[in-house]
Amino acid sequence: MDLLLRNALLLGSNTPSDIAITGDRITSLTPTKGKGAAATKVIDLEGRLVTGPLVEPHLHMDAVLTVGQPRNNVSGTLFEGIAVWGERVKTLTVDDVIERGREVMAWQLACGVQHVRSHVDVCDPELTALEGLKVLRDEMRGLVDLQLVAFPQQGIYGFKNGPELMRTAVERGVDVVGGIPHFELTRDEGVESVKFIFDLAEEAGLPIDIHCDETDDDHSRFVEVMVSETIRRGMSGRVTASHTTAMHSYNNAYANRLITNIKRAGLHMITNPLDSSVLQGRFDSGPIRRGHTRFKEMWAAGVNVSIGHDSIMDPWYPLGYGDPLQAAFVLVHYGQMSGAKEMPYLFEMITTNPAKALGVDSRGIRKGGPADIVVFDAPTPEDALRRVTPRFLVLRDGKIVARTKPSETTVTINGKTRPVTFLRP
Ligand code: FE2
Repeated sequence: MDLLLRNALLLGSNTPSDIAITGDRITSLTPTKGKGAAATKVIDLEGRLVTGPLVEPHLHMDAVLTVGQPRNNVSGTLFEGIAVWGERVKTLTVDDVIERGREVMAWQLACGVQHVRSHVDVCDPELTALEGLKVLRDEMRGLVDLQLVAFPQQGIYGFKNGPELMRTAVERGVDVVGGIPHFELTRDEGVESVKFIFDLAEEAGLPIDIHCDETDDDHSRFVEVMVSETIRRGMSGRVTASHTTAMHSYNNAYANRLITNIKRAGLHMITNPLDSSVLQGRFDSGPIRRGHTRFKEMWAAGVNVSIGHDSIMDPWYPLGYGDPLQAAFVLVHYGQMSGAKEMPYLFEMITTNPAKALGVDSRGIRKGGPADIVVFDAPTPEDALRRVTPRFLVLRDGKIVARTKPSETTVTINGKTRPVTFLRP
């Protein structure tokens, strides 16, 4: 055995385990007791929480780190964000895309993220962002695996040569076909765009991930079109709907019927709490709607729901550093997930659930499985969330690819200095 991780607290367990690793596989998983088996290297995790790799199912990698360029989003709205980005796209270069993306992918790896799906704006005759992200996709393969989605930020029919640009992006090697039906100029063109996306994906044999109904307009109802196309074409399990914030504002009768049909169609659903919490409800004067998709009702109905980060320091969301745990922390509040069974579920929403949506290994830590392991510097899932703790260790294929040294804080009270850990004594 090459490496033995002792005293690992696996998600859902109350007692520590030893994880034995040989090469790139987990060769045994046993309760921690005694001295443990002999290994070339032994690391005592001292009861820290361990999960499989974090999976980022929704990001705009081409836009990361562009906040303030060429100008700030003063209103803070989604639509001013789209306008600002439309200006920034004109100055993109391949190197600019690579440098920003490369930095963020290092941040993600440090957070334990090993699979990322990024939308790439194809409303650019040169497809510059796609060319840059293809370089990163090759460069990071095997560490952070990147899937690229052809994403028409300004619409397919509302942008000059939109359908041709989508086809060209597929020819140039995207992994997924995307869209934005609620941003098309008319309801009819939105429906048409969904059918175009399904046709293109079917022809190319690619999965689908559509920005759908990202608005507070309760008349925006394109998820039902996705449901219908998925069922009709037998594409269950290969289709994802992202955002779907209008669902918050649907009447209950319609939402209930829609969720039943989402389950029937086998759609994967992705909620983006960081962006949605600041972008939705912007046109309300009070009470201000949360503008969040009904992920809890979908969870209860057995739909696969995941958390996405969406933006990292871009025209839509000026904060973030790529950590899915921070997005989960926000969802505790914004989505009211503070219940005893709700908080541990958030870890499924950033690991195994998005893995299913992306079609990558979703079975987590197990004997015989890949030694892709994330160690949180926390004794429980609740504590990891409470403090949004760093990742103590990250392993990919049995090798340590990221580590964080625990920080030290002291306080001096009445002349006496002592350490503070923020842990309950
Ligand atoms: Fe998005």
